[in-house]
Amino acid sequence: MVDLTGLHKHFILEHLKEGDVAVDFTMGNGNDTLFLSKTVGETGKVYAFDIQPEALDSTRAHLEANGAPENYTLICASHHLAGEYVKEKIAAGMFNLGYLPRSGRKALTTKRETTLPAVAAAISMLKPGGALIVAIYPGHEEGKLEGEELSEYLATLSKYEICPSQFKILNSPDSPYFFLIEKSPKCKD
Ligand SMILES: C[S@@+](CC[C@H](N)C(=O)[O-])C[C@H]1O[C@@H](n2cnc3c(N)ncnc32)[C@H](O)[C@@H]1O
Repeated sequence: MVDLTGLHKHFILEHLKEGDVAVDFTMGNGNDTLFLSKTVGETGKVYAFDIQPEALDSTRAHLEANGAPENYTLICASHHLAGEYVKEKIAAGMFNLGYLPRSGRKALTTKRETTLPAVAAAISMLKPGGALIVAIYPGHEEGKLEGEELSEYLATLSKYEICPSQFKILNSPDSPYFFLIEKSPKCKD
């Protein structure tokens, strides 16, 4: 069976290398932050965002326990404000939408009113040839609607600049799926 998590990391690795700048737009417990941090290495930079202070504590502990290079900045702010904190163009970004698994804080799920502006901001932050992954959890109502609205929005983008694609299991509509959003290498900065 296809492992969608492994698959989206594969796509990120196609776009991200040592020395690059990357953003984890939904830090949570820091699993994606660790992956990005190790991929860009000591000469790269990773910014990670979450609105829950506990996520920063948990991520810091996870990064330290797993020997991440000291290349990360953890920011307690909503991801739609990322442009206020990240001034460089980025090679890759990851959104893992929804709520923190096993936290019991389902109300702190990502929401359409900030998710859509955050994805739009992230696209404008991409350098030519850069890419974003947005993982969707349609098993809960807000996740389903986030996916539908993002799909409509992504379909409006210029095909000469942005290539948005979707990876989902067709006979399991409630299973997580993801969007891959690639910026053309021929695009102007
Ligand atoms: C599914 S979890 C992310 C899992 C994480 N990537 C990991 O590797 O552990 C989603 C996270 O998004 C965070 N979140 C919710 N709304 C947010 C927002 N507006 N800006 C940034 N993070 C947000 C939640 O607090 C939660 O920790």
